[in-house]
Amino acid sequence: MGTRTAIIAGNWKMNLGRQESVDLGNAVARIEHDPATVELLVFPAMAWTAAVSDAAQGSNLRVGGQNCYTEPKGAFTGEVSAAMLAEICTDVMAGHSERRHVFGESDELVGQKVRAILGAGMRAVLCVGETLSEREAGDAEAVVKRQLVAGLAGTGVDELGSIVVAYEPVWAIGTGVSASPEDAQNMCGYVRSELVGLYGDAGANVRVLYGGSVTPENAGDLLRQADIDGGLVGGASLNVQSFRAIVEAAAGT
Ligand code: PGA
Repeated sequence: MGTRTAIIAGNWKMNLGRQESVDLGNAVARIEHDPATVELLVFPAMAWTAAVSDAAQGSNLRVGGQNCYTEPKGAFTGEVSAAMLAEICTDVMAGHSERRHVFGESDELVGQKVRAILGAGMRAVLCVGETLSEREAGDAEAVVKRQLVAGLAGTGVDELGSIVVAYEPVWAIGTGVSASPEDAQNMCGYVRSELVGLYGDAGANVRVLYGGSVTPENAGDLLRQADIDGGLVGGASLNVQSFRAIVEAAAGT
């Protein structure tokens, strides 16, 4: 992972009730770690973001939103703006594959969300990744490049400190089949080379996470790869023991 501080992020998706979320937030906030080596971040279900954020007060745990809308306020029933999340969050995800594939979000919309998140003063975790058929067609790099370019449209080099990229192959999410460490490294290395192509040397400092069936068992081999700066963890983040084991794996690489 080199000199870039690792990030271990938990994506709780639409799981856990209010009390379960607060309890897990409290437990994750107490995971012993060196914040200079590993940053901890959780994305609770939207309804409980504020409650978990309150639970994390006074700790190093960062709390993020799983999604937001592009407009700051107005007649957009059911949506949450980046400005609203900025009152309770430090980070917001944009373009998670479930947003892209279940809710039909376009590359352009994801880019507008990144703009809104940065505009509200938060860090954007931009998720990219190919489907199985795109991989089988040999298009994995082209898809990821298209998602990166659109996702970062209008983002300047001076804003890169507020960008994290998560490479999450769709076929590895929630399937129990993670990418091999070699494939994950190749794609995260590709993301980094594209960031350098877009932004020059500063692009190399952006944290690039791997996501997709990360577990305590495979975390060490994945996180040891040169261009993998951490993990975006779904299923294994719903339990403090497995999340702690992944944090420990990150600290040990
Ligand atoms: P998973 O989910 O770890 O359960 O595969 C990862 C994600 O969707 O971010």
